Amino acid sequence: MVNEFEIKKQICEIGKRIYNQGMVAANDGNISVKLNDHEFLCTPTGVSKGFMTPEYICKVDENGNVIQANPGFKPSSEIKMHMRVYKERPDVQSVVHAHPIYATSFAIAGIPLTQPIMPEAVIALGCVPIAEYGTPSTTEIPDAVAKYLQHFDAVLLANHGALTFSDSLLNAYHKMESVEFYAKLLFNSKLLGGPKELSKEQVERLYEIRRQFGLKGKHPANVCVNNKDGKASCHSCGGNCGSNCTCDNDADVVAEITRKVIEQLGLKK
Ligand code: 13P
Repeated sequence: MVNEFEIKKQICEIGKRIYNQGMVAANDGNISVKLNDHEFLCTPTGVSKGFMTPEYICKVDENGNVIQANPGFKPSSEIKMHMRVYKERPDVQSVVHAHPIYATSFAIAGIPLTQPIMPEAVIALGCVPIAEYGTPSTTEIPDAVAKYLQHFDAVLLANHGALTFSDSLLNAYHKMESVEFYAKLLFNSKLLGGPKELSKEQVERLYEIRRQFGLKGKHPANVCVNNKDGKASCHSCGGNCGSNCTCDNDADVVAEITRKVIEQLGLKK
C-alpha cells in the first residue's frame, strides 16, 4: 500500500501535468484520491495546481469535511462534485477536474463528443455527454453529473470543463488526456471538412473488443443489458432488448442515454 505522503506527491505531479499541458489556467482544476471509505485527499482551493507541494494537500471525509489541512489551505471549492462521484461509483479511486481548451470549447458550444472518429476514443470513452450547467461550488454540478455516472467515466460540464474518474489517479488523469485528445481531433477534422465517421459495424466491433479485454469502468458498450451475460450487444436497445432484457431500476436512465448516444451517432434502428 502506497503511503499517504507518496499519494500527495503523486497528486502534485498530476497537478503539474494538467497545468503544463494547458488543461487549466491560473488556479483552475482540482484533483482527489480516495484513501478509504471515510478519508480522501484533495487539492486545496485557489492555488495553481501546477506548483503544489505535498503540504498543500488536504484530507477530507466522505462529506467533504476537513480532517486535516495545513494553515492557509482549504479543500477545493468543488469537493462536493468529487464526493458525489465517490458516493455513486464505489469503483472510483480518483477524480480529476480540468478545463482543457478543446473539450471545454465543445462543452461551451453544447456539442457532446459522440462522433465515432477513432478506435482508441471509441474503446476508451465511447462518447462523452455534457452534464447540464450548474453553478460552481454548489450542489448543482454534482446533481447534473449524477445521472451520467453509471454509464460514463468522463463527462463534460456545460460552459465549464471536464470531469474524469477512474480506478487510479493516473487512469483518471489519462481519461482527461483522452477526452482532450478526442476533442482536439474532432475539432480539427471538422475544420478539414468534417470527419469520416466509423461505421456502426466498426463501432460494434470496437465495443466487443473493449468487452473482451475486460476493461474496467463504465462505458456505453456496457449499456445493453445483454452484455452482462456475455451475449452480443445490440447497441441500440435503449435498455429494452426484447426477451433477453433484464433491465433494472436504471432502465429509464439507460434508455434515455442510449437513445441520445444512438441519435448522436446516427445509428438509428
Ligand atoms: P478550486 O481551486 O476551488 O479547486 O477551484 C478550481 C476550479 O476549477 C473550479 O471549477
